[in-house]
Amino acid sequence: MSWSSAQYLTFEAERTRPVRDLVQAVPTQSVASAVDLGCGPANSTEVIATHWPNAALQGIDNSADMVAAARKRMPAHSFTLADLSDWQDEGPFDLILSNAVLHWVPDHESLLPRLARRLTPRGTLAIQMPDNIDEPAHRLMRDIAAQPEFAAKLSDLGGTRTKVESPAWYFALLAAHCSHIDIWRTTYHHVLEGGPDAVVEWFKGSGLRPFLSPLDPAEQAEFLRRYRDGIAREYETLPSGATLLPFPRLFIIAVR
Ligand SMILES: C[S@@+](CC[C@H](N)C(=O)[O-])C[C@H]1O[C@@H](n2cnc3c(N)ncnc32)[C@H](O)[C@@H]1O
Repeated sequence: MSWSSAQYLTFEAERTRPVRDLVQAVPTQSVASAVDLGCGPANSTEVIATHWPNAALQGIDNSADMVAAARKRMPAHSFTLADLSDWQDEGPFDLILSNAVLHWVPDHESLLPRLARRLTPRGTLAIQMPDNIDEPAHRLMRDIAAQPEFAAKLSDLGGTRTKVESPAWYFALLAAHCSHIDIWRTTYHHVLEGGPDAVVEWFKGSGLRPFLSPLDPAEQAEFLRRYRDGIAREYETLPSGATLLPFPRLFIIAVR
């Protein structure tokens, strides 16, 4: 199941808030050149453009649907269909931002220094990644995938997401390349008005995609039924009927 801009943007307000928090923490005074890696439908690119309206700004994404949505949303900007692991533009850039993307991209150990080397002096690498792989919403995906009805088709999913390492690991990795590093972890508590069904819709736009993709429609429906039951069991329901979804995220600001 490939990325769908429409499914992803169902929760645009919640998904875009971390970009604003990330951008607020960028200490680089003047940003003339910026790139948004894994720009999606340009919700993150738009936040960069609002903050630095005079920056030459481009977006990179490897989903055709996302790039089409980004071009439609910001027709005056340049969006390229490319895998950021193969992205060759040496810049240099005053800002390289990647919001909610790098947990899908392997080999942080070589990727992050490679990105840092494309910064101007005092330029900033700004990253946010969901740090939620041990949350019930993800544990349930793995548990259901291991059940006998699904195991044959879903047993290979171990490497789908890249491990988000500890803050100390990212400090050590970037210290050789950057003069200032700021890392923090925030848990947002999203109020999802549609209850467990809304939580299912949220993850259909992100983490559930690789689990649903190998299944036929009947298997997908059964997987989602079990997933919804698990979500209803594991997450708190507010008096309004909304579900409270805790969502931890790791933020990294690294200045060259
Ligand atoms: C969760 S969305 C984030 C979208 C946007 N940056 C935001 O802040 O909401 C993840 C995006 O990363 C893109 N992506 C994932 N792996 C990628 C890769 N290796 N190269 C380029 N884009 C990638 C996906 O296509 C998707 O649009």
